[in-house]
Amino acid sequence: MNSCQAACRACEVVVAADGVTLDHATRLRRLGEVLGAWRSVWQPLPFQHPVLPWEAEHGELAAALRGLSDAEAERLQDAPLSASALAHWLPVDELAALVDLPELAAAGEPTLPDSWGVFVGGRKWQQIQAFAPLVRADRPLLEWCAGKGHLSRGLARWHDRPVDALEWQPALCEAGGALAHRQSAAVRLHQQDVMAADAERWLNDERRVMALHACGDLHVRLLQLAARRRSAVTLAPCCYQRTADAGYQPLSRQARREMNWSMSRDDLAMAVQETVTAPGKVRRKRRLANAWRLGFDALQRSLTGRDRYLPVPSLAYGRLPDRFADFCRWAAERKGVVLPPGVDWAAHEAEGWRRLAEVTRLELVRHVFRRPLEVWLVLDRVRLMEEAGFRVRLGTFCDRQLTPRNLVIQAEP
Ligand SMILES: C[S@@+](CC[C@H](N)C(=O)[O-])C[C@H]1O[C@@H](n2cnc3c(N)ncnc32)[C@H](O)[C@@H]1O
Repeated sequence: MNSCQAACRACEVVVAADGVTLDHATRLRRLGEVLGAWRSVWQPLPFQHPVLPWEAEHGELAAALRGLSDAEAERLQDAPLSASALAHWLPVDELAALVDLPELAAAGEPTLPDSWGVFVGGRKWQQIQAFAPLVRADRPLLEWCAGKGHLSRGLARWHDRPVDALEWQPALCEAGGALAHRQSAAVRLHQQDVMAADAERWLNDERRVMALHACGDLHVRLLQLAARRRSAVTLAPCCYQRTADAGYQPLSRQARREMNWSMSRDDLAMAVQETVTAPGKVRRKRRLANAWRLGFDALQRSLTGRDRYLPVPSLAYGRLPDRFADFCRWAAERKGVVLPPGVDWAAHEAEGWRRLAEVTRLELVRHVFRRPLEVWLVLDRVRLMEEAGFRVRLGTFCDRQLTPRNLVIQAEP
């Protein structure tokens, strides 16, 4: 028996060969069971532990991870559920089936023209082009957390009808209003805090509300109000960790009943930790910063004698010092660590790079559970709407290279 079978009964349950046919309630339940059974493996952060708490129980898995070549580690980082050697220990195949969702956007479907995206970043406009055909204009449209209202502007022009858009920041409302005027789009941007009690007045059973990448509490608020006011919803959620609650509070009755494990805000952040869209230069800078942080961590442990991870604030992009020693001086000052003369900088920097290679491999376990966690969170939202009597479709609206936050919920009252 491999350790996957020993740790949970996930592998004994047969997933339909065509995973797409699984209903939302079944997917939510199975994903919840697997995530719960394996939480001791995916919750601890390898960055913080030179030896992970689960290594004693899953020694073979840890050894297999440490033994991966650079190329294989990189491949698994990018495609953690595909042809993975870790399937010997982890329920990779079942998870792959459970997160296999239909593509809701039909390839080649007509969409907003490229030329309308002149005031929008290239990737954001492509996301809008992929999302727009999923928003039916059968009812008056309302955009939730609209920013400058790029999506609203596109849809107002495409369907030649007015669109209302809610945004909190006055400057974005103003800039969005000017863009709408310039492109002769009938978009009305309203300054509105969607968390305020009076936000509810915008929703009713004749509206369709759309939200592209509305964060945590903002999209939860939308779903809760839409369920109550019977508004149709087309939503691509993101940033589940942006929430006022320190621990995850399930939204659906089903998840509240079934979830017998807990999740912190930090755990939620794992659901959005995917960097496929980061350009090579950004990735390289991030690797350097991570190696230096790990090098500093090894140094502070040896200096203070405390074998505990010391979090160092992140540095804005472009602010990283040129040399490891200067980075350590900056971090030491912030954390009140006294640096003695004669530190062997080269040795500690080398230790940082060694730890980064190790952490990158051990992180692959978390990558296996990352998309399953995200799909579980979205299914909790789907079930909230189904329990309120909505018909709900869940799938992807674009390729993950365009945005890893590519899940879309379509809920009809
Ligand atoms: C991640 S952006 C998404 C913007 C746009 N949908 C897009 O895809 O580019 C989230 C937007 O929500 C707005 N926002 C944040 N808190 C809000 C609130 N309480 N009420 C209304 N809008 C809010 C932000 O100002 C920001 O423009």
